[in-house]
Amino acid sequence: MRKVGIIGMGHVGSAIAHALVQEGTFDEYVLIDTKVEKVRAEALDLEDALANQNGSYKITVNDYAALDDADLVISALGHIALQYNSVSKDRFTELPYNVEQVQKVATQLKKTSFAGVLVVITNPCDAISAFYQKETGYPVERVIGTGTLLDTARMRAAAGQAFAVSPKSVAGYNLGEHGNTQFTAWSTGSVMGQPALQMAEAAGVDLAEIEKASIVRGNDVFDAKGYTSYGIAAAAVRLAKVIVSDAHEELPVSHYQEAFGTYLSTPAIVGRQGIVAESSWTLSSDEKEKLAASAKSISEKFSEVVG
Ligand code: LAC
Repeated sequence: MRKVGIIGMGHVGSAIAHALVQEGTFDEYVLIDTKVEKVRAEALDLEDALANQNGSYKITVNDYAALDDADLVISALGHIALQYNSVSKDRFTELPYNVEQVQKVATQLKKTSFAGVLVVITNPCDAISAFYQKETGYPVERVIGTGTLLDTARMRAAAGQAFAVSPKSVAGYNLGEHGNTQFTAWSTGSVMGQPALQMAEAAGVDLAEIEKASIVRGNDVFDAKGYTSYGIAAAAVRLAKVIVSDAHEELPVSHYQEAFGTYLSTPAIVGRQGIVAESSWTLSSDEKEKLAASAKSISEKFSEVVG
């Protein structure tokens, strides 16, 4: 039996639950939200899909004790009005509010015997991942933020359009903060198997524009739609599947980095135990500086609120 908990059943949590039941990834879903009527309605709606879908699943609502034997818990809670505050355009705007919510969730989690992997989407993703780890006391390798897995997908979408190929034919990573100080590590990038820098020169593509697009795409979606959901849901679903299948796949996800004393995204090997190993990546000196600057920014903003 594979079991997942989703905490926060707003636009993001619901999109994740929907994608997971369609893929038949889990046998049991534990859906948790402070809005009791809303989470019950989401459960009913998903149950109404059962008769016309492949596979089967059981849904439990607002029961932390049901997480005892969960393989995975996904934190998707947040505050819609604070997300990407339209003035600041900075996910850190959500930190003071989300820290309070996460503290309550962590208190509940600690009462359970949950021993799986905690996947954090709640923004600001890197800071909240660090906060969850601190509050729950879970081993660092078992608390993972979706981090720049999403921004990497946005980079691959933008590069795919520029090179007129599928995003799947673009490789490489956005690294650092899931936020404004992230960057595309073009030294890790390739298009159709060829180095991205070389391909861009040959095709007259401006990689700086693609990097910029990958960073602001979230804002663009948010401004017109009021929230983002499908992109982040796909990233969370991919990460969940890699974890439960113990795939040992390399993913750019937010995890604790001893060298920086903070959570931030670099490629790591992910499996059933969470972060299984750091992957051996070599960045250019310019990229190393950007990564260090991103780590510093996360740490400073985290300390301002959390201490
Ligand atoms: C986004 C949110 C999840 O970038 O931070 O879509």
